[in-house]
Amino acid sequence: MRGFRLSSILTTVAVGASAALTNGRSFSYDGYKVFRVKTHAQPSVVQEKLSNITFEQWNHDVHSHIDIVLAPDQLPGFAELDLEYDIMHDDLGGSIAAESVHSSLWKRQAGGLSWFDSYHDYQDHIQYLQSLHDLFPDNSEIISSGSSYENRSLNGIHLWGAGGPGKPAVLYHGTVHAREWISAATTEYLTYKLVTEYKAGDRATRAALDKYDFYIIPIVNPDGFVYTQTTQRLWRKNRQPGPNGSTCYGRDINRNWEFAWDANPLGASTNPCSQTYKGERPSDTPENQGLDRLVRRLRDGAGIKLYIDWHSYGQYILSPFGYKETLYAPELGKWTKAAQYVSDAIRDSSAALTTFTFGPSGATLYTTTGAAPDHVYSIGRADFSYTIELRDIGKHGFVLPPELIRPTVEEQWPGQKVLWTLLDEEFFDGVGLLRRLDGRQSTP
Ligand SMILES: *[C@@H]1O[C@H](CO)[C@@H](O)[C@H](O)[C@H]1NC(C)=O
Ligand SMILES: *[C@@H]1O[C@H](CO)[C@@H](O)[C@H](O)[C@H]1NC(C)=O
Ligand SMILES: *[C@@H]1O[C@H](CO)[C@@H](O)[C@H](O)[C@H]1NC(C)=O
Ligand SMILES: [Zn+2]
Repeated sequence: MRGFRLSSILTTVAVGASAALTNGRSFSYDGYKVFRVKTHAQPSVVQEKLSNITFEQWNHDVHSHIDIVLAPDQLPGFAELDLEYDIMHDDLGGSIAAESVHSSLWKRQAGGLSWFDSYHDYQDHIQYLQSLHDLFPDNSEIISSGSSYENRSLNGIHLWGAGGPGKPAVLYHGTVHAREWISAATTEYLTYKLVTEYKAGDRATRAALDKYDFYIIPIVNPDGFVYTQTTQRLWRKNRQPGPNGSTCYGRDINRNWEFAWDANPLGASTNPCSQTYKGERPSDTPENQGLDRLVRRLRDGAGIKLYIDWHSYGQYILSPFGYKETLYAPELGKWTKAAQYVSDAIRDSSAALTTFTFGPSGATLYTTTGAAPDHVYSIGRADFSYTIELRDIGKHGFVLPPELIRPTVEEQWPGQKVLWTLLDEEFFDGVGLLRRLDGRQSTP
């Protein structure tokens, strides 16, 4: 991030129902462009050239391309580098403005799907969660996983089926990275479908919710999320002040988990100005402390069956370990198999034939320390623990147009329905799993 400073904006801007999403942000991306620079499997050559200009990098899977954001004054220097690239956003400011177009039709009540036709501000997300609870009052409760640095509650919803609460947990987190807006919509859509399909008597949904308690927290970084709406659209971290008088704000809550926090210098940054600043100590963000308390509470209760941290973008399904790319957990075979079936279900259900790449996080994508899936597996003892990176693979990146919300969230539902049927270990008796699934898939 270039030298952006906190102003008093946060406390003076009223976050109204639509004001927050219009173009009142103090950090403007007008004239900025986003390029996908091709690296042809030689990223270091391209990185060397790029070292001459100032940019913000969006992706870290740089084997075939590097996605970069350029300010207007950097464009001439970039042109001189004579690199091969595709344009992701020719006018980033315009793309961000287009995200804010509200459909006047959406209803805050959870009765329909119009909620998923546009992006929404924080207060509306809180109300939407409440309306999901109101749809399913005897089988759900609003929960809080503690508070953010700026004292917002990390609200979520706990759902259960027949026989009341107390079953093993399925835990979903969204929006740990503030700019990854599609992850809030996805976790909300999955909640909406769980509630409505359960009530409609859908067999697979009933089976899942009768067997597991779902804990879904769509926005685990509320301060960062509000900041992306009031001030700077591409903010990622929380909004905690930097240490030792640093003028840079924010810690990456997803580099702040205790397990293997300091295990690999490549996995996070010690620089408070970096997008991946890990904090001064493990779990020294209030957001992480609250989330970790819930993880340990669920572990010590009926246990955690499945954990998913929802992110964007890149279309990946990633399992532990992130902190060391050569370390394979004993469960890697079943995690990878399950991820393959999720990936197949998404592809087969989507008009766009969306494909997801899957595998262990460190080896498949890049090294991360202090990231959630490693911790929730190792400390939380989750049977299955994933990061899912949603759409897309580099056309729009973080700034996904509103008309793509619906297809992006909808294709995750069949993926999760398949995954829930795989959580039971009896499905993993060698070839039995394959035979059973292949049999089901060949049924018309
Ligand atoms: C970097 O910039 C300097 C000074 O502007 C210029 O002399 C040099 O050729 C540039 N290097 C590359 C790789 O473009
Ligand atoms: C959050 O609340 C605590 C306790 O009420 C208070 O001490 C603190 O100053 C608040 N923090 C912010 C950023 O408002
Ligand atoms: C902040 O100061 C402490 C104590 O001197 C030091 O251990 C730590 O590394 C410093 N952090 C940064 C980011 O400079
Ligand atoms: Zn992310």
